[in-house]
Amino acid sequence: MPGKNEPELNKQLFGNDFLWGVSTAAFQIEGSCAVDGRGASVWDVFSNRKGNIRDGHHARTACDFYKGYKADIALVKKMNIPNFRFSISWSRILPEGTGTVNQKGIDFYNELIDHCLEQGIEPWPTLYHWDLPQSLEEKGGWTNREVISWFSEYVNVCALHFGDRIKHWMVMNEPMVFTGAGYFMGVHAPGRKGLRNFLPAVHHAVLSIAEGGRILRAICPEARIGTTFSCTHVTPFSSGKRDVEAASRADILFNRLFIEPLLGMGYPMQEIPVLKKLNRYFYPGDEDKMSFDFDFIGLQNYTREIIKYSLLTPYLHAQLVRADKRNVPVTTMKWEVYPPSIYHVLKKFAAYKQIKEIYITENGAAFEDFVTESGAINDVLRLKYLQENIEQVLKAKEEGVNVNGYFVWTLTDNFEWAEGYHPRFGLIYVDFKTQQRIVKSSGLWYADFLSV
Ligand code: NOJ
Repeated sequence: MPGKNEPELNKQLFGNDFLWGVSTAAFQIEGSCAVDGRGASVWDVFSNRKGNIRDGHHARTACDFYKGYKADIALVKKMNIPNFRFSISWSRILPEGTGTVNQKGIDFYNELIDHCLEQGIEPWPTLYHWDLPQSLEEKGGWTNREVISWFSEYVNVCALHFGDRIKHWMVMNEPMVFTGAGYFMGVHAPGRKGLRNFLPAVHHAVLSIAEGGRILRAICPEARIGTTFSCTHVTPFSSGKRDVEAASRADILFNRLFIEPLLGMGYPMQEIPVLKKLNRYFYPGDEDKMSFDFDFIGLQNYTREIIKYSLLTPYLHAQLVRADKRNVPVTTMKWEVYPPSIYHVLKKFAAYKQIKEIYITENGAAFEDFVTESGAINDVLRLKYLQENIEQVLKAKEEGVNVNGYFVWTLTDNFEWAEGYHPRFGLIYVDFKTQQRIVKSSGLWYADFLSV
C-alpha cells in the first residue's frame, strides 16, 4: 500500500503505453471437449483417469467458454480490460495433431478473435498451453523429436488462418511446468515420470519454441512474437554454503533452464551434472536452432520459494521449505503471499541483455470466496494481492526495467489442472452448477483502476 506521501496506485503511473490485460487458457475454460470435431488432448485423457484430479473433477464443461464466450468477453469489456490472452486448442485445429484441419475449430477462434476486435479488445493468443493432442502423445509426445515438425505444422496453420489480425503471439506457456509436472513428476498430463521422459521433452520443447518463433516471424512479419515462462524468486533457507548452492540449483530449474538456451546461451548445465545428459538428445546444428530473437518475453509469477539442501531429492539435492510450514500467509495453492517476488524476477530477467521487452503475462492468487447474502464477493485478500503485486511491478519499472504490460490470472474461476475447481483464481466468480458469474470485489477494483 502506498505510504503517506506516495500517490494512490493508479494506472497513469505506468504511462499510456503500458498494456493491461487478463489471461486464460483453452483447456481450463472452454469445455465442449467432444464438440465440433475437437480431438482428445492429453489433458482429457489424464483427467478422465481416476485419481489424477482432486475429487475427480474434470473439464468437460469447465466455464463453458466455447459456447458462452460472448458473455465472458462482454464482461471483459465491462471491466475495461483492453487485452485478452487466451490459448488455442491444438486438437480443435488438428484433431489428430497433424493432417486434417478441422474447419469448425478454425471458425471458433476466428469468431473469438473477430468478436474481441469488434468489442475493442486486443486478442493475445498463446499457441500451446499444455494440451497436446492425445494421438501425438501416443507416438511419444514431447519425448519424440518428431514433435518439432508436428508443432511446426500446427503453428503454420494458426499463423496462416489468424495472422492477419493478431498483433501479439505467444508461442508456448510455461514449458518448465508442463515438462516438469507432466514428464518428470507425473502429476500433470500426460503423467509420465523420470529423466528419460523429462530431458528429451525439455530439449524438444526448446527447439519447438524457437522454431515456432521463426514460423510466426516468416508468416506474420508485422506481429510481435513472444513466449512465456514461469518464474519465481528463490531464496536460500540459510546463508550456509550448502543451502546457497542448493538455491542456485533450484534457480536453474525454476528460472533458467528454458530461457537461456532460447536466448542463445545454451543450457545452464554446470551446477546440475545430470543436465549434461541433455546432450544425448542433441542433433548436429541444434545449438543454432535452439535460439530465437523474441520481441518480448512473458513472465508469470505467483510466489517465491525458499530452498534448502537435501539429500533426499535425487539429482538436485535441493528441497522447497513449504510455505504452509513457515507461518506466512498462503493462498489456496499453499503458495506464500510475497509480492516482492515479482519485483525480483523482473530485475533478474531484465539483466539478460538479449531480452528486449517484458510483459507480466500472468499474476494472481487463489483464495476461498464466499458469496454474501446480497450476492457479492468481497475478496479482500485477492484484491490486496493484486494491488501489492502491481506496486512491485511499478517499482521495477521505475528502476528502469523494460516491463510494459501486466495480465491478471485470470478472468473467471476455472479448472486449475490437478487441483480441479478448488482453487479460485478469477476476478469473476463462477458457480459451476449454474454457470452464473459474479464479478468479485477484485474485479470491480480492476475495472475501476482501468477506467481512468
Ligand atoms: C500458470 C499456468 O499458466 C496456468 O494455467 C495456471 O492456472 C496458473 N499458473 C495458476 O496455477
